[in-house]
Amino acid sequence: MKVAVTSVSGQLGSAIAQQLISKIGKENVVGTARTTSKAEHLGITLLPGDYNSKSDFVTAFNWIDVVMILSGMDAPERRVEQHRNIIHAARDADVRKIVYTSIVGDDGNSTFDAIVQSNRQTEQDIRKSGLEWSIGRNGLYIEPDVEYMETYKKDGKIANCASDGLCSYTTRNELAYAYAQMMLNDDRNSQTFNLTGEAITQLQLTGYLNSTFGTDLVYEEMTPETYLAFQQKVNGEFLGKIIAGIYTKIRNGEFNIQSDFKAAAGRNHLTWEDYFNTLKQS
Ligand SMILES: NC(=O)c1ccc[n+]([C@@H]2O[C@H](COP(=O)([O-])OP(=O)(O)OC[C@H]3O[C@@H](n4cnc5c(N)ncnc54)[C@H](OP(=O)(O)O)[C@@H]3O)[C@@H](O)[C@H]2O)c1
Repeated sequence: MKVAVTSVSGQLGSAIAQQLISKIGKENVVGTARTTSKAEHLGITLLPGDYNSKSDFVTAFNWIDVVMILSGMDAPERRVEQHRNIIHAARDADVRKIVYTSIVGDDGNSTFDAIVQSNRQTEQDIRKSGLEWSIGRNGLYIEPDVEYMETYKKDGKIANCASDGLCSYTTRNELAYAYAQMMLNDDRNSQTFNLTGEAITQLQLTGYLNSTFGTDLVYEEMTPETYLAFQQKVNGEFLGKIIAGIYTKIRNGEFNIQSDFKAAAGRNHLTWEDYFNTLKQS
């Protein structure tokens, strides 16, 4: 079986490619990227794959059986068309199966919901494509909170509008493991899986970070309005809306998701105790 992974220059694409390499060998894994030079460390065949160019993907998918489509990073209305470029190219190139990284999230009216809806539209496009498919809905990555520790330490706190909402987090490596299984095992076909670990509150997250890094951070609740204004000031209008919308969805319980990780991956998701213990030891 020969497989292709899009956006292989990014962190999730690269992690999925590494899982696939360990299972079926470098010679059977092709990566596409807008910036192929960023993925040379993988040692696989790399081909141009800009989400705005359908023809890039028609060329790249020649002789490919299964394609892993990573959701794009553009504004939601552009993403749907970009994903269609890849779906239509897969069909034209006689690909057998598509696997797609969607996002978890119950319906709401936050400033993040347009992103969720664009992912749902792509899910529909894939289900209607006539190709075999398997879809994962990613929980929120926990890594950005770890990467943000220096800022949290400087502030002495984690402040957002999530309140005591539960959030189903995951990690890129856990997602990569599950996606490799979904690509290689056809008994996962025609199914949509929520790929998340245990749901935790911001207070629990603060506790894990304190015990891992020896800090004394506190959690501070902000109102959704204040947090949106703060985020837009710091990160600009578009990104500010996305980040504030995510925490509003957590507050509203819309990211407290029943996980299907085991059904997709064939094993349980890493526990947060184990994840943070590993960080402590590294
Ligand atoms: N669940 C979550 O918490 C969460 C958080 C953030 C993002 N996401 C989603 O998960 C996806 C992967 O995340 P990640 O951690 O791998 O992000 P990342 O490390 O920032 O990588 C983003 C990737 O998107 C590629 N890209 C952007 N525009 C492109 C275009 N027009 N054509 C082709 N490639 C393009 C980038 O290519 P270049 O190397 O050329 O820039 C890069 O490879 C993201 O695309 C986003 O949709 C999920």
